[in-house]
Amino acid sequence: MAEHKPRIFSGIQPSGNITIGNYIGAISNWVRLQDEYESIYCIVDLHALTVRNEPAELRRRARSLLALYIACGLDPAKNILFVQSHVPAHAELTWVLNCYTYMGELSRMTQYKEKSARHSENINAGLFDYPVLMASDILLYQTDLVPIGEDQRQHLEITRDIGERFNNVYGDVFKIPEAYIPKVGARIMSLLEPAAKMSKSDENVNNFISILDPPDVIMRKCRRAVTDSEAEVRFDETNKPGVSNLMTIYACMTGKGIPEVEKEFDGKGYGDFKQAVGQSVLDILAPIQDTHARLMADKAYLDQVMAGGAARAEGLARRTLQKVYKKVGLIPRP
Ligand code: TYM
Repeated sequence: MAEHKPRIFSGIQPSGNITIGNYIGAISNWVRLQDEYESIYCIVDLHALTVRNEPAELRRRARSLLALYIACGLDPAKNILFVQSHVPAHAELTWVLNCYTYMGELSRMTQYKEKSARHSENINAGLFDYPVLMASDILLYQTDLVPIGEDQRQHLEITRDIGERFNNVYGDVFKIPEAYIPKVGARIMSLLEPAAKMSKSDENVNNFISILDPPDVIMRKCRRAVTDSEAEVRFDETNKPGVSNLMTIYACMTGKGIPEVEKEFDGKGYGDFKQAVGQSVLDILAPIQDTHARLMADKAYLDQVMAGGAARAEGLARRTLQKVYKKVGLIPRP
């Protein structure tokens, strides 16, 4: 890994079913950027603890997410792929940064407000503190760029605020990262409720396409996706949110531009269009699913990638953490 390349950090929670929203908004861009950047991709299992999980299921999902990273095209030899809880510096830096983060700014986070409304029986301190753990993930690695979907923009802004606040007191300890949010596909919407974001934790499985959904399920979900009564494939997010969302999915899966998609389906009905959208998703997902299945059967290989990734991440993270501890006045362990 060449030292001079700028650095990327990003991650996904191993919660629910990883969706084509995660693929389009995040993973597909990671794959595209992996040659230009020194990249670190994390499975953020500590973040997933903010909601209740079945322990064996959480472990399975974290392993499956690693297999998915690789199956989607992230090369473990080029990128650092690791599990957040394997590198204790994430939790350690979070404590320090908690002391430089204000209750007021955390309570303004939209995702906290939404999640605490949805999980009113379990509004835990972890849910509130979630953005500080995310800031620690990013700042630990002196990250230049954070490729994310639109919904994480606010968390990246608070990361920058916390980093700058710390630097103002102690000098240039952290690099202040930039967000990379794609122009098309940064917010894939729910299939049945296109006013809401497609979410992997949605209770209605027909609202999302999971990367691991079987072909017939993918085709059925596309067929049932909400459109409108116009029968015209035209991009208009305000008046035609369902159709526009399907057009975005199709554009991202085929690499075509929106005007090109409009032209392609000029005069065609929604039936043909939905069939083509489903097929474009299948074309991308089929090879990913095959590789994922093969990797899941090779536990030794996944363990080896995980161990190697953690060791490399740990080395980088320790350097920043030690600097932080020294700056704030903690005594070095003799
Ligand atoms: P998470 O796990 O909810 O989502 C992972 C990534 O997928 C993007 N995404 C979407 N993009 C487009 N359309 C959608 N419908 C859609 N849904 C999700 C997200 O924006 C994200 O990029 N807090 C983060 C995980 C995290 C992280 C980090 C990210 C923890 N530490 C450090 C970057 C850097 C999260 O919950 O993402």
